[in-house]
Amino acid sequence: MKIIIDTDPGQDDALTILLSVISEEIDLLGVTTVSGNVSVAQATENALQTLDLAGRPDIPVHAGADRPLLRAPVNAMHVHGRTGFEGADLPPASRRATPGHAVDFIIDTVMQHPPQDITVCAIGPMTNLALALAREPELRTRIGRIVSMSGAFSEVGNITPSAEFNIYVDPHAAEIVLASGIPLVMMPLDLTHKLHTSAERLARFRAIPNRVGPVVADWLTFEKRFEATKYGTDGGPLHDPNTVLWLLRPDLYQGRDVSVRVETGSELTMGMTVVDWWQITDHPRNVHFIREADVPALYDVITERLARF
Ligand code: RIB
Ligand code: CA
Repeated sequence: MKIIIDTDPGQDDALTILLSVISEEIDLLGVTTVSGNVSVAQATENALQTLDLAGRPDIPVHAGADRPLLRAPVNAMHVHGRTGFEGADLPPASRRATPGHAVDFIIDTVMQHPPQDITVCAIGPMTNLALALAREPELRTRIGRIVSMSGAFSEVGNITPSAEFNIYVDPHAAEIVLASGIPLVMMPLDLTHKLHTSAERLARFRAIPNRVGPVVADWLTFEKRFEATKYGTDGGPLHDPNTVLWLLRPDLYQGRDVSVRVETGSELTMGMTVVDWWQITDHPRNVHFIREADVPALYDVITERLARF
C-alpha cells in the first residue's frame, strides 16, 4: 500500500509514522505537515526527527499550510507540550524539509500514480488536503482512499465540548474533504478513547530492547499526563496510530457507512461532526465510521511492530 501521511506531530502522529515505516505492507511515499498541534515549522522539525529515529531520512517531508483556510490557528500545546514532542529528547533533525510545498507534493504524487493507487492518512487538520482538492479537482477521482483520525459521535468533543481537535482547527477544510466523494475511513474519538495508554501497555513499549520502544513510551507517558487526568483513566486515548493500524489489520475494527457532516456556522458547535449513525436522513453515506476495535490485539500489533526496529 502506497501512502502519504498528512500530519501535525504530536507524539501520537510520530508513532503513526513509525508504524508505517516498519511495516512491509506499507510504502510511505512522503510526509506532509500542517499547522495543528504546533506550528507547521515545529511539526516539520518533529516529522524530520521521527524519520531520523526510524532510520529513514530518505523519506521526503514537505511543509504545508501554516494556518487553517479561514480560521485563526489553534494549537494543542497543553496536550503535547510546547514543542509538540515533549517527553523524549531527540537530537535536532539531520536535514531540512524537502523543497516544495506539501500541496504540490500531494497533487504530483497522486497524479503520477495510477488512479486509486494512493491512500492518504490524514492525522491533523485537513487544510493541505482541501487546498490540494481546490488546486487539482481530479484528485476527487484519483486518490484511492483517505483514512483520517478525526471527528466524534457520542464522544462529541475534546478541544471544545462539541468538536474534535483536527476538525475544529479547520472545519472548512474538513467540510471540503467530507464532500469530495473520496472514500473516507474515519477514526473518531469514540474509537480512540477506547485505546487507553495504560501503565501496563507503556511498560511493554518501554521494555522493547531497541531505541524506538522507550522513546514511544516516553512520548505517550508525557501525552497521557493531561488526558488521563482529564478523563480519570489509567492512560490517555491513543488517536492517530489507528489510521495505519486499520490499514494493517482492518479485521480488528468495526464500523458502519454513515453520513458525516461538519458544523461551520455556529461558534457554539463549530467543528462538530454530525454523524447520522442511525441513518435517519438520506444524506450521502460518505464515511466508513469506526466505533469498535479489538484493543488488546491492537496493542499486541503495536508492540510487535515497534520491536522490529
Ligand atoms: O483530537 C486528536 C487529534 O488532535 C490527534 O490527531 C492529535 O495528534 C491532535 O492532532
Ligand atoms: Ca495529529
